[in-house]
Amino acid sequence: FHVPKAVNEPVKSYAPNSPEKAAVLAAYKKMWNETIDVPMYIGSEEVRTNNTKTMSAPHDHQHIVGKYHLAEKSHVDNAIAAALEARKEWSQMPWEHRASIFLKAAELIAGPYRARINAATMIAQSKNIFQAEIDASCELIDFLRYNVEFMTQIYNDQPTSNSDVWNKVEYRPLEGFIYAITPFNFTAIAANLPASAALMGNTVVWKPSDSQVFSAKIIIDVFKEAGVPDGVINVVFGDPVMISDTIFDHPDFAGVHYTGSTYVFKEIFKKIGNNIHTYKTYPRIVGETGGKDFIVAHPSANVKQVVTGIVRGAFEFQGQKCSAASRAYIPQSMWSAVKEQLVTDVKSMKMGSPEDFSNFITAVIHEGSFDKLASYIDQAKKDSDAEILVGGNYDKSKGYFIEPTVIVTTNPKYTTMETELFGPVITVYVYEDAKWVETLKLVDETSEYALTGAIFSQDRYAIVEATKALQNAAGNFYINDKPTGAVVGMQPFGGARASGTNDKAGSMQNLLRWVSPRTIKETF
Ligand code: SER
Repeated sequence: FHVPKAVNEPVKSYAPNSPEKAAVLAAYKKMWNETIDVPMYIGSEEVRTNNTKTMSAPHDHQHIVGKYHLAEKSHVDNAIAAALEARKEWSQMPWEHRASIFLKAAELIAGPYRARINAATMIAQSKNIFQAEIDASCELIDFLRYNVEFMTQIYNDQPTSNSDVWNKVEYRPLEGFIYAITPFNFTAIAANLPASAALMGNTVVWKPSDSQVFSAKIIIDVFKEAGVPDGVINVVFGDPVMISDTIFDHPDFAGVHYTGSTYVFKEIFKKIGNNIHTYKTYPRIVGETGGKDFIVAHPSANVKQVVTGIVRGAFEFQGQKCSAASRAYIPQSMWSAVKEQLVTDVKSMKMGSPEDFSNFITAVIHEGSFDKLASYIDQAKKDSDAEILVGGNYDKSKGYFIEPTVIVTTNPKYTTMETELFGPVITVYVYEDAKWVETLKLVDETSEYALTGAIFSQDRYAIVEATKALQNAAGNFYINDKPTGAVVGMQPFGGARASGTNDKAGSMQNLLRWVSPRTIKETF
């Protein structure tokens, strides 16, 4: 059985006068003037409660985008019951029918929903159009298409049989329901975590981030129109502790698909461990968490490449990617050239509303994030072992704007070399050229994380040396490119150590976590 070969969705240009630019701006303006009301989706019901929260645009926080409805414990219980009920039929549906539904969802996003889902991501997550396009459109479409291709390979992977024995492996969905907890920073990840488990025949309770509710609603609209049956993906909003406690107490809890903070993921492990005697099966725990991602330049590196890597790696989407470059190691011999180009490039970046396509930088996601970043910047202004090279200003009067900021430190273990800040701040340490090998060791030892990293070098021996020395320092390792922007089907994404279980989003390995194979032997 063959499905269409997956191809990556081409990225549209949004050039002046392009039809896609006109379409997304029209969708943006229309949505800006509406106040959307986002219910929870439980079984066949759209559930509204008296307890609601408003959403505002991070780049214009007085502007209310809409409101969403919050769950009480009974709603979570109902969502679990709806998932278990829907599982009866969904888990028995022939897999090629599940594939058809999600392939249709991909085409709906590629076509009629593209402008809307990009605009929602621009308004409520403050992505500029280019960041919205590569996420909410292209990456989301790619996840759906490639997962269908990987799924085909999984179901077709069968053991050997002979003339008197027929062996089969049946890739059963897990016995129970899956819990998806998703982040604000990628609309694609938010959709993929519930969708990949559902594709493999599971049913899901999905809790999106409070800051991603707007695009989550469009994802649900797309899935419904594509034919995902009621109860297969149930959506609840609200108090994460209450929702998680209710789910982790349930005997049919079969797995969690998570992207978010390291702290919360470790708490999830503890809760599941404490409840282990409650469950029918050993739950699957799949998560992608933080990063403190590095850029290391070798003295042979090309200066322009290094600076582009820093600027794009650290500042695209205001550095709010778990993959974002947040510490850089530059050799002394190259520093003055890098410094000059870096200051020029950072100063040339415009900051403002995503509605103006010339703005590279928009706002960070919310006040909590703004205040945290501002306090680290203030501290760097005071500390004797750090200084602000460029940026360092911030203003939350209209939106949560933090200037792209480069800190330079003389202390390789300075706080911002070690701590994940999740914003447009990168810290540079200048090392002595002769200490290349020691510097690689330092890169490996400085952070508890191991998500992404990049090495820049024109010297092949140095590339080999760094690739070996940093073998465990990053799950995604880039040579002469920024450490962000993994493309589904090309660079399977994920990291180890404190960065997650490294089950590679958008890969066969990830999908295999959502099945429990049964081996069937028949003797003739
Ligand atoms: N996959 C994203 C990237 O590579 C991060 O989640 O940037």
